[in-house]
Amino acid sequence: MPEKPKLRSHQWFDDITDPSATALYIERYLTFGLTQEELQGDKPIIGIAQTGSDLSPCNRPHVELAKRVREGIRDAGGVALEFPIHPIQETGKRPTASLDRNLAYLSLVEVLYGYPLDGVVLTIGCDKTTPACLMAAATVDIPAIAFSGGPMLNGWYKGQRTGAGTIIWEARKLLATGEIDYKGFIELVASGSPSAGYCNTMGTATTMNSLAEALGMSLPGQAAIPAPHKERAAMAYLTGKRIVEMVHEDMKPSDILTKKAFENAIVVNSAIGGSSNAPIHINAIATHIGVELDVMDWERVGLDVPLLVNLQPAGEYLGEDFHHAGGVPAVVAELIKHELIHEDAITANGRTIGENCRDAEILAPEVIRTFDTALKKSAGFKVMHGNLFDAAVMKLSVISPEFRERYLSNPDDPDAFEGRAIVFDGPEDYHHKIDDPSLEIDASCILFIRGTGPIGYPGAAEVVNMRAPDYLIRKGIRELPCVGDGRQSGTSGTPSILNASPEAAAGGGLALLKTGDRVRIDLNKGRADILVSEEELEARREALDDAGGYHYPQSQTPWQEMQRSCVDQLSRGMVLKPAVKYKKIARTF
Ligand code: FES
Ligand code: MG
Repeated sequence: MPEKPKLRSHQWFDDITDPSATALYIERYLTFGLTQEELQGDKPIIGIAQTGSDLSPCNRPHVELAKRVREGIRDAGGVALEFPIHPIQETGKRPTASLDRNLAYLSLVEVLYGYPLDGVVLTIGCDKTTPACLMAAATVDIPAIAFSGGPMLNGWYKGQRTGAGTIIWEARKLLATGEIDYKGFIELVASGSPSAGYCNTMGTATTMNSLAEALGMSLPGQAAIPAPHKERAAMAYLTGKRIVEMVHEDMKPSDILTKKAFENAIVVNSAIGGSSNAPIHINAIATHIGVELDVMDWERVGLDVPLLVNLQPAGEYLGEDFHHAGGVPAVVAELIKHELIHEDAITANGRTIGENCRDAEILAPEVIRTFDTALKKSAGFKVMHGNLFDAAVMKLSVISPEFRERYLSNPDDPDAFEGRAIVFDGPEDYHHKIDDPSLEIDASCILFIRGTGPIGYPGAAEVVNMRAPDYLIRKGIRELPCVGDGRQSGTSGTPSILNASPEAAAGGGLALLKTGDRVRIDLNKGRADILVSEEELEARREALDDAGGYHYPQSQTPWQEMQRSCVDQLSRGMVLKPAVKYKKIARTF
């Protein structure tokens, strides 16, 4: 007799040493028609972690796609058990969806740890759903594979491509200049989202789905397939089949999520023009799997990688075009030619990323560029520090010649800029005051927002990309540089310094800044400083301490209060500090 394979689910469903417990564990799963043979035999029990629902439109395709995932699981000899994940809809959740990334993470950890699952298919998509799922898979460390719901089809308006998310910035400017009215504004914004799926731009969703593939956590070539395409459902089937094999091979997230995999993800993020939310989420996944990765790795590994993918907001095209051009494998193949990818990193299909992608072709050279025709030379993040914060990230590639001219402080030093600070305390203060003429905001100003980090605005507000006042937009000054301790939408292209850590609410230097201060940004040195004396800074610090520190609004829900009490800063992935010590917990069950 061949030895019966040991499955984790047997600890619930087939433990002969404790028949009463086994009976209680198993009997309710029989009530919907499963048989003892399915639950106690050698069939792996595979969870389908369902992120789609009516509350989560971006991931709603997964409700249908899960049926094909099930068929794949069944055909490979497994049994599928689908369960819901706490909804995280980027555009639906107040005050911000990112508040719930860690909540969904926590609850998924409990499900994966506490239920009879041998492996799991993670249905990823909308911005925070991908990191929440991968972080939980990292902590628990049972075999796991990610499967995207796919981006929307391209948006169109009057013959032009309109991108989900990005079009809102353009539409807001047209509303400010009176070129469109409120009804036209909504119509134009909605044109960017013409079908089911997640944002068709290179926002946080397409970024994180692409990076899940670059990390090796999904099947190759799956991230870019649009949600309505037939290949999407076929990929659901193949993913279901593959997870069953992964259980038999005992291939776990810790086998895939190595330092090399994370460095590959950083390189790919630069090449695709990925979202500034990526360092937060990728660092969080690394933290939970126990790989040392910090914000400086993003500059070290990613800064000088060129921008190859011509997608909005950095470029012209959208998700459908990216798919037709070859998607992530075509980008990776080009990066392999320039020796920027660790080719031996293993991926979910059991092959290396080199084997998967080496021969992939660029099928539309206007959409995926080669190094020779790259859109930008250094597309990664510069990590900034100074007396305003210890770490913040900036995309150098969004700095236009016009910006350089407007803020240049010394003609002999083309990388040092100065401006007058305009400071807002949180999003409400900004919305309230941005058009106030008494602030005298002009083309030499730099907009600052604080009170928007993980503690100040629970979950960290996506508000650093502030618009210029309407009266400046009407004069043709469409953008001002922005700095803040919050995040920026992955679909925005404003020159900004963001994710500043520590935030004002955690004692960061931003709390000391006053409207009217001169601020210097030196890109060469990677510094951002308030230009006031040490004594003045010290006096301001004392005054702030006397006032009880930086004030921020009260929590509105129990979770907001709990998260604020134990969350780490953006530069460290905004993880829950007490969660970090729990690693690979399914192994010691
Ligand atoms: Fe959900 Fe963009 S809002 S993917
Ligand atoms: Mg977003």
